[in-house]
Amino acid sequence: MPNKLRAAITGVNGWVPEDRLTNADLEKMVDTSDEWITTRTGIKERRILRTPGWATSDMAAEAVRGLMLKTGLLPGEIDLLIVATVTADMVFPDTANTVCDKIGAKNAFGFDINAACSGFLYALATGAQFIVAGAYEKVVVVGADMMSSITDYTDRNTCVLFGDGAGAVLLEGRRDGTGIQDFVLRGDGAGREFLHMKSGGSLRPPSHETVDRREHYVYQEGKRVFKFAVEGMVSTAQEVLRRNHKTVDEVDWVVPHQANMRIITSVAEHLGVPMEKVMVNIHKYGNTTAATIPLCLWEYEDRLKKGDNLILTAFGGGFTWGSIYLKWAY
Ligand code: ACO
Repeated sequence: MPNKLRAAITGVNGWVPEDRLTNADLEKMVDTSDEWITTRTGIKERRILRTPGWATSDMAAEAVRGLMLKTGLLPGEIDLLIVATVTADMVFPDTANTVCDKIGAKNAFGFDINAACSGFLYALATGAQFIVAGAYEKVVVVGADMMSSITDYTDRNTCVLFGDGAGAVLLEGRRDGTGIQDFVLRGDGAGREFLHMKSGGSLRPPSHETVDRREHYVYQEGKRVFKFAVEGMVSTAQEVLRRNHKTVDEVDWVVPHQANMRIITSVAEHLGVPMEKVMVNIHKYGNTTAATIPLCLWEYEDRLKKGDNLILTAFGGGFTWGSIYLKWAY
């Protein structure tokens, strides 16, 4: 249906800090090796935000400033700005409003979405609804996480995985058949047992005891999460393809959340998609949680063509997971 109004990504930009944390650096911090990290995760280095006074909103603001430069978008034109993150600057206010203030988006309102590694997909689907409803014309969706602020650098199980970064996209209406075609988003709160940050919320407010017990960091049962991640990403990708009468051969690009190279290759194998069609940058940035998918789109932007069929797919804490099918707009 070419005339149907759809929300399309019409610009993308990414921002990562300059400081690198390499596997060699981690070898000096915990009992690990470049060989273990590379073979088990595919990660070689991650970016770490070390600018004093900077937080998630600053990375997000940098990503959006670059997006405005690329697209000609003016701050006053932004109607809505959504930030997907699990590392908000503060428990409240939300990071999106801080970003709006920092970039001068005086006519926008904003809010955060907390869906861990699926956050960008949840936020993209949410932002798209304001476009297709005809309520707004310019929606900015950001995925940004400063994972170094909640990573325990004495825990080898998790500290090798995460990095910091931000990615942003502009959503606008299109009636030429391009844009977001469909999405399948899921959640299962029972998964909170396996992937969470134990303290700091209303259940266990911060105290000397929670700090002593190191409960303000990511906790993950990696093996369990691994299995659910592959199943969740594959099943939702297949579902969104099936109900749009698309075969895997018609997919030009799979854009998977970058948690582990073995998860990415396993998802590609189960779907039957060759790795040449799968966006990968995990070796450079590790798992930047909500930022991985927009950072991939940013780095592969030059290779995308108008009309390309993309499957965005992710799995993360919650559990949350899902897939979005979109046709690239430019
Ligand atoms: N260096 C060396 N050895 C290590 C390290 C390390 N950095 N980390 C763990 N090990 C050891 C373990 O202690 C264990 O040793 P043992 O057998 O003596 O007990 C051994 O290596 C194997 O550990 P596993 O946890 O079984 O390793 P696995 O192959 O499962 O890899 C990993 C771990 C990378 C975490 C993997 O399970 C994974 O990627 N899981 C899913 C991550 C994911 O998708 N998360 C969701 C998104 S994140 C979010 O939402 C915030």
